[in-house]
Amino acid sequence: MATIITIDGPSGAGKGTISRMLAKKLRFHYLDSGALYRLLGLAAVRHSVDMANQQDLSTLAGHMDIDFEASGDELKVLLEGEDVSLELRTENTGALASQVASLPNVRAALLRRQQLFAKEPGLVADGRDMGTVVFPEAPLKIYLTASAEERAQRRYKELLAKGENVSLRALEEQVRSRDERDMSRDASPLIPAADAVQLDSSELSIQEVMDTVLNLVYLKGLATSVDH
Ligand code: DC
Repeated sequence: MATIITIDGPSGAGKGTISRMLAKKLRFHYLDSGALYRLLGLAAVRHSVDMANQQDLSTLAGHMDIDFEASGDELKVLLEGEDVSLELRTENTGALASQVASLPNVRAALLRRQQLFAKEPGLVADGRDMGTVVFPEAPLKIYLTASAEERAQRRYKELLAKGENVSLRALEEQVRSRDERDMSRDASPLIPAADAVQLDSSELSIQEVMDTVLNLVYLKGLATSVDH
């Protein structure tokens, strides 16, 4: 059976970076579950599916033609054969993803597709409900968080580096309202699994978070092959 490590938490806590680094180190597969919700948002726009039509959205979620291709250190994401990696990361796509992610039928339609990523030797699954709903049997569950101020700061620096002019105050507001929405929704709200190890990355560097996570992996005896 494939070994599963789940990494859940709010946006901006560093889950993506840590999950990708960990998957590479352990030579495990990687599931970016947020990308599936983002892809569905894009597919819905392309096929003119109404964001309020839960039935059509869940049919699309079950059938959309998507693929992930490793390209060096990057992961190329394909929708109907077209590379949408850049479009996937925009704020607009994030907003569409957040809308479709609140629909229970959509979440149910994506459940099996996510579980199919569990392949030998193992999987690092990154998202909001990996440890609670999608892989409840995972032997190691991490809940990675950071203060809203710190997450807004990180996003601020990222956007500045891209040459975008944004207000830190507005970003903090956005982070808080997204947290509120993710944590209070009825379908798979963002909460730590009862058996998750909670890790606050506010004061930690990426390397410090990685070291802590790797220690947990070794403690649980989950590393079969490690890439040094
Ligand atoms: O992690 P992200 O920003 O790519 O996620 C995009 C949206 O999808 C975000 O609003 C949270 C939602 N999401 C979710 O509800 N469940 C997941 N397992 C992953 C993401």
